[in-house]
Amino acid sequence: MHSVDATTEQMIRSVLAYAENRLRLDPVPLDKGSRDPAELDVALAGLLGDEGHNPDQILGIYAAVLAPAVISADSPRFLGFIPSAPTKAALLFDMLVSCASIQGISWLEAAGAVHAENQVLALIADRAGLPAAAGGCFVSGGSAGNLSALAVAREVAKRKAAAGGVAAAGCAGGAAGARRWRAVVSADAHSSVISTLRILEMAALTVETADHRLTGAQVRAAIEADGDPSSIAAVVGTAGTTNAGIIDDLAGIADVAREHGLWFHVDGAYGGAGLFAPSVRDRYDGIQHADSFIVDPHKWLFAPFDCAALIYSDPALARSVHKQDASYLDVIHDKPAEWNPTDYAYHLTRRARGLPLWFSLAVHGVRAYSEAIESAIALAAGTAAEIRTRSYLELIREPDLSVVLFRRLGWSPAEYANWAGQLLADQVAFIPPSSWEGETVARFAFLHPHTPMDLVREILDRMA
Ligand SMILES: Cc1ncc(COP(=O)(O)O)c(C=O)c1O
Repeated sequence: MHSVDATTEQMIRSVLAYAENRLRLDPVPLDKGSRDPAELDVALAGLLGDEGHNPDQILGIYAAVLAPAVISADSPRFLGFIPSAPTKAALLFDMLVSCASIQGISWLEAAGAVHAENQVLALIADRAGLPAAAGGCFVSGGSAGNLSALAVAREVAKRKAAAGGVAAAGCAGGAAGARRWRAVVSADAHSSVISTLRILEMAALTVETADHRLTGAQVRAAIEADGDPSSIAAVVGTAGTTNAGIIDDLAGIADVAREHGLWFHVDGAYGGAGLFAPSVRDRYDGIQHADSFIVDPHKWLFAPFDCAALIYSDPALARSVHKQDASYLDVIHDKPAEWNPTDYAYHLTRRARGLPLWFSLAVHGVRAYSEAIESAIALAAGTAAEIRTRSYLELIREPDLSVVLFRRLGWSPAEYANWAGQLLADQVAFIPPSSWEGETVARFAFLHPHTPMDLVREILDRMA
């Protein structure tokens, strides 16, 4: 299994040929996704037994049965949830990273890879206006990033409370270590933030917003009206809500966080990439004050799955929380100046998942990224304009970024479902309905720079 024999040679040829063909798809077709598990069982029956099989036979089953049972998130026709659109350069380099078995835990094991990843983190931090000392690591996704960041927020609050004797004052929950810490979140914060709070045994102080955009004034009012403000550890702002692409009032929230000594976390998993788009950059004002910030390159920075950038303005705080101590790991911590990605999130073994982005950025240049991000923003604006011209449609709000929410007047949820189902069946688009204030609505999530306006028109025509 580990030597280069005739079977290995055969696999190198056929797997690489398959990968090459996949890479050359332009555009990538949608494919169908969900399948009856019984059908898949039949196709895979008997493959995982004591005896092996010919690799070409197995690859054939993957190509014929499994690959089409996946909706391709990197198709320009994938317009649901949050799509993905990795560059060919990033995909190629991802294969190289896989073949290189880089253990991305530590400087000791992977200085070269970590250094390149850190340059990408520095580029992102710089776009956000974070301090020069800001840093962090790449994790698997926005959910992991939110969890790791808010774990630091909670520990910092505990320490402050312990240092200030707050626990002794008998706040709700008792001792600083045992009390239930809270975070101020918008009702539109991503579901992973709510899961994070549950995992961390924190509670949400949820602020309802009139227009789904959290403002500093609303956060201030919520804290002032709260009966136990000293149990609040953090405020979470979103730079691009998932459902509507709304950027919270980060500057206002940052002010309130500072006034109250709270950790300010910005979830830019989807929308953080807009920092690279000059046309919307001013909407992120205030992000430079974030204590922690995440953005998922596997979303709008055109990296392959899975890749999230997690950045702290004061990485030493994160290290003091996440550094794992074990005798066999002492050697990676011998030299305090060395940067160990494991120290900045809840993880140990780690794929050097920032490298494909580094390679692609270096190959294409940052300007190409800005242009590609701008094209999705322009497409969203064009789509909003197109919707306004059609009497049977109604735009729900002007898009801030690249998500467009709209309704088909008079449609029931079943009609939206039929429309979306038929579009997928016809391989026109994947555009599942969403909901807005309890009503089923339609939603475009643009991200792929090759999604054409003609496709948008075709989709809208099918609602007439
Ligand atoms: C705003 C926001 N935060 C967090 C997440 C979770 O990211 P991931 O799916 O990479 O865990 C998402 C995913 O869409 C998101 O849009």
